Amino acid sequence: MTVTAFDDSVEISLGSNDTKVKILNFGATVLSWKVAGKEQLWVSEASKLDGSRAVRGGIPLVFPRFGPASGNHPATDKLPQHGFARSVHWEVLGQVDENTVQFGLGPEQLPAEFAKAWPYDFTLIYTVQLLEKSLKISLDVKNPGTQAFDFNVLFHTYFSVPEVEKIKVQGLSKLAYFDKVASAQVASDSSDAVTFNQEVDRVYKKSPAHIEITQDGEPLYTVDASNLKDTVVWNPWTQKAEEMSDWAPKSGFHQMVCVENGVVADFNTLQPDSSWVGGIVIKANM
Ligand code: BG6
Repeated sequence: MTVTAFDDSVEISLGSNDTKVKILNFGATVLSWKVAGKEQLWVSEASKLDGSRAVRGGIPLVFPRFGPASGNHPATDKLPQHGFARSVHWEVLGQVDENTVQFGLGPEQLPAEFAKAWPYDFTLIYTVQLLEKSLKISLDVKNPGTQAFDFNVLFHTYFSVPEVEKIKVQGLSKLAYFDKVASAQVASDSSDAVTFNQEVDRVYKKSPAHIEITQDGEPLYTVDASNLKDTVVWNPWTQKAEEMSDWAPKSGFHQMVCVENGVVADFNTLQPDSSWVGGIVIKANM
């Protein structure tokens, strides 16, 4: 097990079988996760990796707001889509043990525009642990200030899949969801799984903690979430992929699916001197 700190990233490596994870300091974004040499995350070939914009792929972290300004939540409405955490440089706090690293973010690291738009005292600690076939990630949100604040959080995981039309996302059937494509609430999903042959952008409120991405009945990935009650499922399909300047190849949406665990349907409120922790364990079944 080796942890290597580069100028712009940290890599944890399991050793000889090419199992490793690379986390960019920018956004504390998990950029690559390889299990026995096989990449598990999708990253756009046109993604900027120089800190000029959020990474298009991997696992960007959404905080403290999900989606665009809603117009009815003044405390976060001045922030850009998906907040600031994915678009700022985090501090590498260091190695916790041989396979775990931590990153930290506080108001002192925010550019003035974000500090002004979200003027709260906060501490974020992001922990990434590499195991043989799984990745464990958690976020600790602390409020050391005197004012309560509201936040959304989302682990925006871009899973790499052989062909999205052949996969299923299981664990969400029969649940209500908000369909962001139609801008409508859907009372119940009648299918046995989420499948993909068009744009999909859904927010499942209070979803199960265990979700599977399967192909031919076999799991490609399992995701277990803790303290993250909502799940977003997203695939941009043809037109949205065309519209995104950092999306390449344009057909790349066939090789990915976003299954994102978080707290997004409502805001969490964190009182002074309190903290909140949530996280995911992703297992690659290969
Ligand atoms: C998903 C949202 O979480 O993120 C989608 O549900 C959004 O609506 C997608 O399009 C990508 O967002 P962004 O800001 O990275 O382009």
